[in-house]
Amino acid sequence: MSVDAYERIWMWMASVLIAVFVGAILLTTGLQAVHPPSHIETIDPTKLDQDPEFGNPGVTVRADGTVVASVVAQLFTFRPDPIEVPVNKPVTFRITSADVIHGFEVVGTNANAMVIPGYVSQFTVTFTTPGEYHIACNEFCGVLHHMMAAKLVVK
Ligand code: CUA
Repeated sequence: MSVDAYERIWMWMASVLIAVFVGAILLTTGLQAVHPPSHIETIDPTKLDQDPEFGNPGVTVRADGTVVASVVAQLFTFRPDPIEVPVNKPVTFRITSADVIHGFEVVGTNANAMVIPGYVSQFTVTFTTPGEYHIACNEFCGVLHHMMAAKLVVK
């Protein structure tokens, strides 16, 4: 089978592009700059108030020393607000929604997840700069979507 020279060049270029894209994914994953925000953990959004974790959302320190921030997004607030976490320590955010799809973005950081009712979105971030950060909902969720915000305090 003979392959035309131009065809051969295009095949090589496409292969190189695919290699670059896959390499970029592996590189960013390896450096932890990008990681999938969630895992498959389901929760009944109509019974959050009876849930041992999300019934009283807040920041807790587990027995092994890891810091967990449990957050509930609900039209048009985040609970707790403000969220206080320690600096230079990995913080695992666990976020769920009581109603519709929201977003949870700590502006200026790579902490960013979609918050879907029925699921727990989880990711771990280490904040290295103390200060106050703005948390914004970045999924359109209703008439007051633009007002849905909270404060993160890193200290
Ligand atoms: Cu919640 Cu937009």
